[in-house]
Formats: sequence, structure tokens, C-alpha cells
Amino acid sequence: MNMMKMGCSVGPIRKSISNQFSPANGSLSKELFGLRFKNPVGLAAGFDKNALYLTELEALGFGFVEIGTVTPKPQAGNDKPRLFRLPKDQALINRMGFNNDGVQVVAQRLKEWREKHAQLIIGGNIGKNKVTPNEDAWKDYEICFRALFDCVDYFVVNVSSPNTPGLRELQEKDSLRKILSHLQTINRQESGAETGRKPKPILLKIAPDLTPQQIDDVIDLALEIKLDGLVATNTTISREQLHTTGQELETIGAGGLSGAPVRKRATEIVRYIHEKTNGQIPVIASGGIFTAADAKEKLAAGASLVQVWTGFIYEGPAIVKNICKGLLS
Ligand SMILES: Cc1cc2nc3c(=O)[nH]c(=O)nc-3n(C[C@H](O)[C@H](O)[C@H](O)COP(=O)(O)O)c2cc1C
Repeated sequence: MNMMKMGCSVGPIRKSISNQFSPANGSLSKELFGLRFKNPVGLAAGFDKNALYLTELEALGFGFVEIGTVTPKPQAGNDKPRLFRLPKDQALINRMGFNNDGVQVVAQRLKEWREKHAQLIIGGNIGKNKVTPNEDAWKDYEICFRALFDCVDYFVVNVSSPNTPGLRELQEKDSLRKILSHLQTINRQESGAETGRKPKPILLKIAPDLTPQQIDDVIDLALEIKLDGLVATNTTISREQLHTTGQELETIGAGGLSGAPVRKRATEIVRYIHEKTNGQIPVIASGGIFTAADAKEKLAAGASLVQVWTGFIYEGPAIVKNICKGLLS
């Protein structure tokens, strides 16, 4: 990415990269949350945590990019090594632990970037600092929400990373209601008539490891408080049905598994949400998307948009172009 950054700082090189990798505009564009996505293929959170590579990612054709997860204070994350390839499974295991520059720095960087680039749709994925106790988590989400309000197009509340101890407990209905309703109140305040600003879509990102009861609770809550959408799903803590040996997995240790092994479960959850709500809750699908066939599977299950992460690592910089080409055929 750093090589690309150097290249993209030179106008003609950026243009040539963009010509090579960008899918044709137009026929795949889609309106959702009051936003116009030039194509439905986005980059999932955690790749550009600090909004450092937006020009390069835009040149690769992404329809949207989700920055973060950002937290109120900067944090270093877990000790390295913390990211592992599982080539036999076309998968990754990570325990990054929300390493990021902190929301103030990221917001400033985004503001400066936005002054020059108005086009790319940016999602702001927000979380809590490791040291913040769960009962105070809502305050961390508020800090991030306010700081990013003017520089992102939509928000994703991340309570589903396995790498911040206790975070996933926030997926319980009462904890979720507190965090999400509070953000919706601020959303209304920030976008009151006199401000000239519109409310931002707020989505919730869920884990693939939720029980059926927990998924039902999320759906009920989402309908009750009129949440704008869900991102399904994050990485899994499961290690079932892998080709990587038990010994290798033991050496790697804890973390979230992503890529091909998550594909089926993520699709099932997307389909379940879509069917249970008659499509009332827009879903951004994430989990195991490498090819146009994978993207089609998610869209057929009811997803409105898709995101890639592990697929980007395995398939390389032409992934958006290739998926878009396949979606058109
Ligand atoms: C190294 C790495 C870091 C990630 N960091 C985040 C993060 O900070 N916030 C988040 O919501 N998801 C994060 N994710 C999860 C991805 O956004 C995505 O939901 C998940 O990997 C499943 O998609 P995939 O199979 O296409 O990778 C991360 C994933 C990886 C591999």
C-alpha cells in the first residue's frame, strides 16, 4: 500500500492505476441511506483504520470504504505478531485489538482529505478503548460519533470484534439499546433544522457467532429503534472445519477468523435477517467474499451492499473490478 501511496501522489500515475482497476461506472450504482454508491463493493473496516490510504483505495475502484475501528484515545493494540495467514483455508486470523491513531487525529485527516475529494463514500466504524469499562462504553461511542459527524457518510457501531475483552457482551439487547438510542438522540441534535445538516445513517456490526436468540434480539431492537441497517458479519471465534492443523492453530493462538471459512455462516445470517424482516433492514454483507459468485450469493440472500477484506489480500488489487465485471454478466 505504501508503494501505491507513492504512485498515487503523482497525478498521471494515479490516473493510470484508476484506469486499470476501476470498474465501469454507472450500471452498478445504487441508492441506499440517501447515498449514491457508484458500485456495491466496499472495503470492510480494519484495513484502513486510520484513513491513510483513501486516495489509493478510491483508485482501486471501491464503491465505499469503511475506516476504523477508531476509538476515542489512540491505542497500540495487541503485541505483534497479531495477523496470520491460513493459506490452506484462504483465511486470516487477527488479534489486532483496535490499534488506531485515536478519533481526533483520524477526524482531522479525513477533513483534510475530504476538502480535495468529495466523491468516495466513507463509513466511520467506531468502538471503545480497551480500558473503558463496558458500563461506560456509550460515552466512547458518543465521543467518536461527534468527532466524525462531519467527515463520514454513515456510521457503524462495532460491538462484535473478538479482540477487545468483553466487547461482544455489548451485543446484549439492553446494552445495545443504551448505546444506539443515545447515538440516535445525538444524531437528531446534530442535524436539527437550524444546523443545515442531515442525520447520518447508523448501522450495527454483528458477530457471526451470535445465537439465534441473540440475532432475534438484534432484529427486534433494530426494528424498534428504527436502526438504519446492519453489517453482517465480523470475524468468528470458531475454528470449525479448517484445513489448517490443530497444531498450527494452537501456535497462532486467539483471534478472529476471516475469509472463506466465514462465507457460509455470514450468508446464512444475511438471509435470516432479510427473510425475518421482509427486507425492512438494509444489510451490508461481509464475510468470505472473494469473487463475483461470492458477492452474488450475498446479494441473492438479501444484502444491499457487500464488503471485502480477506479477499482483497488473496485476490489482489483487481478484486473490485473483477467482482463488478462478474456482477454485470
Ligand atoms: C486484520 C483485520 C482487522 C480487522 N479490523 C476490524 C476492525 O477494526 N473493525 C471491524 O469492524 N472489523 C474489522 N475486521 C473485520 C472485517 O471488517 C470483516 O468484517 C471480516 O474480516 C469478515 O470479512 P472477510 O472474510 O472479507 O475478511 C478486521 C479484519 C481483519 C482481517
